[in-house]
Amino acid sequence: ARLVVLVSGGGSNLAALLKACSDPDYGAQVVAVGADRPGTGGATLAERDGVPTFVERVQDHPDREAWDRALTEQVAAHEPDLVVSAGFLKLCGPRFLERFEGRYVNTHNALLPAFPGIHGPRDALEYGVKIAGATLFFVDAGMDTGVILAQVAVPVLQDDDEESLTERIKVAERAQLVEEVGRLARNGWRIEGRHVHLGAGRS
Ligand code: GRF
Repeated sequence: ARLVVLVSGGGSNLAALLKACSDPDYGAQVVAVGADRPGTGGATLAERDGVPTFVERVQDHPDREAWDRALTEQVAAHEPDLVVSAGFLKLCGPRFLERFEGRYVNTHNALLPAFPGIHGPRDALEYGVKIAGATLFFVDAGMDTGVILAQVAVPVLQDDDEESLTERIKVAERAQLVEEVGRLARNGWRIEGRHVHLGAGRS
């Protein structure tokens, strides 16, 4: 399966995917990496591996709609079977969602539907939950509201601060992302209501 990965930051999730994809039995290849800003660690990692990269900045376009169109075209040009948002901090527009609906997954560092948004671990700590984690889901038009593919839990420890909890979540999150993307790539999938079934359908 062909993966296009979208990043905004360091790219530790992307690094894990690139590593997994170096095994031919994994069933997927990263065919391009896109970012919403120049100079991301993610793009550097991709370039090191000879993976094509592109950048679409919102501010280089007259409006959000034009950005949506440009990003959709860039991603579509690489003919992905699956688009993976790995720390991509932009909400994609309607055109993008229409084009890649059911083929666009995002990993979020909280156990949805609790703690959506960009401060998942901090919000979880402040709330005082004792179990945190990460959620992999198919993106829809809402913020972190899509159909859930998988979740992984980690404990919140007594002495955790935002950094230590974020790190613990990231370790579990990466493993989950690699495992689930591989399963989708090798088996195909279909979405029925709020559930994802592996097997029949897309590959
Ligand atoms: C992930 O923990 C994701 O849930 C959050 O940002 C992180 C991405 O990190 N939104 P990286 O860029 O893959 O290292």
